[in-house]
Amino acid sequence: MTQDATDQAVKKLFIKTYGCQMNVYDSQRMAETMGAEGYVLTEDQAEADMVLLNTCHIREKAAEKLYSDLGRLRPLKAGKPDLKIGVAGCVAQAEGEEIVRRMPLVDLVVGPQTYHRLPQMLRGEAPRILTEFPEEDKFDHLPERRATRRAPAAFLTVQEGCDKFCAFCVVPYTRGAEVSRPAERILAEARDLVARGVREITLLGQNVNGWHGQGADGREWGFGRLIRAIAEIDGLDRIRYTTSHPNDMARDLIEAHRDIPALMPYLHLPLQSGSDRILKAMNRKHTAEQYLRLIDRIKDARPDILLTSDFIVGFPGETDEDHAQTLRMIRQVGFGTAFSFKYSPRPGTPAHGRATLPDDVVDARLQEVQALLQDQQQAVQDSMVGRTLGVLFEKAGRLPGQMVGKSDYLHPVFVEAPDAQPGDLVQVRIVETARNSLRGELVA
Ligand code: SAH
Ligand code: SF4
Ligand code: F3S
Repeated sequence: MTQDATDQAVKKLFIKTYGCQMNVYDSQRMAETMGAEGYVLTEDQAEADMVLLNTCHIREKAAEKLYSDLGRLRPLKAGKPDLKIGVAGCVAQAEGEEIVRRMPLVDLVVGPQTYHRLPQMLRGEAPRILTEFPEEDKFDHLPERRATRRAPAAFLTVQEGCDKFCAFCVVPYTRGAEVSRPAERILAEARDLVARGVREITLLGQNVNGWHGQGADGREWGFGRLIRAIAEIDGLDRIRYTTSHPNDMARDLIEAHRDIPALMPYLHLPLQSGSDRILKAMNRKHTAEQYLRLIDRIKDARPDILLTSDFIVGFPGETDEDHAQTLRMIRQVGFGTAFSFKYSPRPGTPAHGRATLPDDVVDARLQEVQALLQDQQQAVQDSMVGRTLGVLFEKAGRLPGQMVGKSDYLHPVFVEAPDAQPGDLVQVRIVETARNSLRGELVA
């Protein structure tokens, strides 16, 4: 084959990923699926033969972003009629045909549980809009993960969907019912990742600690037991997981934090609000006090654990007193960092249609929450100075000879280390803190 013929055979795929880590994982699996069809990834949208937008529906802003990005693709498609444009992910699931109606330039719409059928859709052997929740499991149909060397830190989805139905949340509708992948499949995927150079795995699920299933020993396993099995994989140094619901922090999982050195001292445990009234209205099914007691038990097991969280500000019915309780809870727990969002009413969710609060009230509350969280984040980062921490190098830093990696507590750390490679797990003494990162020196 001549070079020209090779070039023609290779098609280029551009993927843009919005939303959570589960979408990041899905985008990788979509790239692998299309890779089996001869597509290679490109970073340059302009040279793509196919553009896939893997979308998020969690807040209105996230969903609307899709339509502005699609609008910007119009000139590209006009100049390149063969260009295929696909919308995947949670907006695809939630809005389906509506997307094609609003944006006729879209060729394919595929949901988070159907993207294994992308190649058939592209060949016209499957409908161009595929958003039903299939009986079959996409994981049974995806190609083997490609035998390339991988970055030192990887995601692995172990659990899909959610049955919790928090009043504000679209996930149970966009991702479907809660399903745990079989332990054997997860372990096989984890071993494969490690064999290809991965040293840190983050287990993913919207309710990841609700994972359960039959283990290799034929017994019913919970998430803590799964982590123990994964920790036995030779060459795997670090395990993380996200995101967890407080009500699924089983004893076995808390004990895993006590017993398993590879399980990093970091826990993202969304609280959403510090007010019992609001927690109830949100259908979170726990109180502030229960959350505090849970944190106590987790800290008994792993005293240095860094807690992070999510908060929704301005949920319908939130009073000044409810807001004050949120601030009080944040002070009491002390978070390493946390995301806080203005409540966004989502179609189809139970809270949709409840009276919302005036924008200026919500803005002011959000600012207060964010200022407090920012102070806490800075204090935690400052407290790292002088400590020696494990850092897993992921890539070269901004300066020559510099590497950047994550500490045990997930802080990005910049280190001068001219002889180091991505994948090196080193001991670093933290010498300085910046706004969102740390600087450290190699410990001899
Ligand atoms: N499964 C996770 C959260 C997934 S969504 C959990 O149970 O905590 C990620 C975060 O987005 C949520 O924790 C919440 O803080 C925020 N979020 C979800 N729906 C939202 C909405 N309608 N408006 C504003 N923020 C929202
Ligand atoms: Fe959404 Fe609640 Fe499920 Fe989290 S637990 S994904 S917030 S419904
Ligand atoms: Fe968004 Fe879907 Fe994740 S709505 S947060 S991409 S599960």
